[in-house]
Amino acid sequence: MGRTSRLMRLDAFTKTVEDARIRTTSGGLVTIFSVLVIFFLVIGEFNDYRKVTVISELVVDKARGEQMEIHLNVTFPRVPCELLSLDVMDVSGDLQASVSHGVEKHRLDKFGTIIESSYLEVHPEHPKHLDPDYCGECYGANAPETSTKHGCCQTCDDVREAYAAKGWAFGDGTGVHQCEEEGYKERIKEQAEEGCRIDGHLWVNKVIGNFHIAPGKSFSNAQMHVHDLQNYLQSDVDHDFTHTINNLAFGPPLPTNLLHERHHQQNPLDGTSKHTKDRNYNYLYFLKIVSTSYEHLDGGYTINTHQYSVTSHERSLEGGKDEVHPGTVHAKGGIPGVFFSYDISPMKVINREVRMKSFAGFLTGVCAVIGGTLTVAAALDRGLYEGARRMGKVHQR
Ligand SMILES: *[C@@H]1O[C@H](CO)[C@@H](O)[C@H](O)[C@H]1NC(C)=O
Repeated sequence: MGRTSRLMRLDAFTKTVEDARIRTTSGGLVTIFSVLVIFFLVIGEFNDYRKVTVISELVVDKARGEQMEIHLNVTFPRVPCELLSLDVMDVSGDLQASVSHGVEKHRLDKFGTIIESSYLEVHPEHPKHLDPDYCGECYGANAPETSTKHGCCQTCDDVREAYAAKGWAFGDGTGVHQCEEEGYKERIKEQAEEGCRIDGHLWVNKVIGNFHIAPGKSFSNAQMHVHDLQNYLQSDVDHDFTHTINNLAFGPPLPTNLLHERHHQQNPLDGTSKHTKDRNYNYLYFLKIVSTSYEHLDGGYTINTHQYSVTSHERSLEGGKDEVHPGTVHAKGGIPGVFFSYDISPMKVINREVRMKSFAGFLTGVCAVIGGTLTVAAALDRGLYEGARRMGKVHQR
């Protein structure tokens, strides 16, 4: 006895004497069992190591002078395409009146089937009835800059534009030579029962702004924004701004797994329908746009897009008419239509895919699993063996 025996008592790795080794059936069962347990736990450990989690962080958005893509898809079952125009404005003073590029309008029949598709407000080709020397009259208004011949109103569209610039109501074009030639009145009549779907992309500056879909040609200057509402308000057919927003997005979609995980919708207005029977009705949507990026782990590519939150307001317009020019309504009094006003959030959400576990962590986990399982199994085996032996003694007695 002495120092050595005290040290011996501290030995955690007690050695088995070779002769005392015996194999038991219970030991065999415990071994198989622990191998299975190790197998499953190591698989779990591996899955954990491979698992990609998305972490989100909020930072101040420092990007400047960016452009933003608006994807718009809205159906108006009771306003024909001929009467609709889309205007985009932002605080930087950039006005894109009657936006054309990249936005299509689809004429829809009563059942919502497409009759014809064309780009919105594209300037019509040179009408065939014009001879080269022809210079159309503008009926007291100033010829628009977009006219194909300087100082002349070559088409019905030119006259309408010239009238809109003056803030005059245009009507159905009766008495206007260009429009009678083109059959403008007949076209409006013929399409009166139709609906329209506006569908396409716009690029805007990433600053506070708004866009709206309202009836009639529009004209803006520093003081006012005017729409020629006569055809809309005085039509025999009931028009109104009942609409369905099929899609309104500000950039490409985020991965669906992320949205699923967070129980979250990137574009909350998708699928929204609003109904009215009131011709003079106006819908306002206020959007707060939040820049959002998503960084993929594999390939390292990043999606830069936006999400938004929305509040909406709708009201009937009373007495919005201008007494001086009947049929013309100033923006202040309110225009029937669908208006979207958007604001940009100063914060940006960054979603990043990461692996929570390193390879070293994975190895540590595997060692822990094997070591731990074997220790528990050894204790179990010992217990079973001891138990069996005592029982055997009891039987022998
Ligand atoms: C716009 O929405 C309609 C109706 O949901 C759909 O049929 C059409 O494909 C959409 N257009 C685009 C470009 O996604």
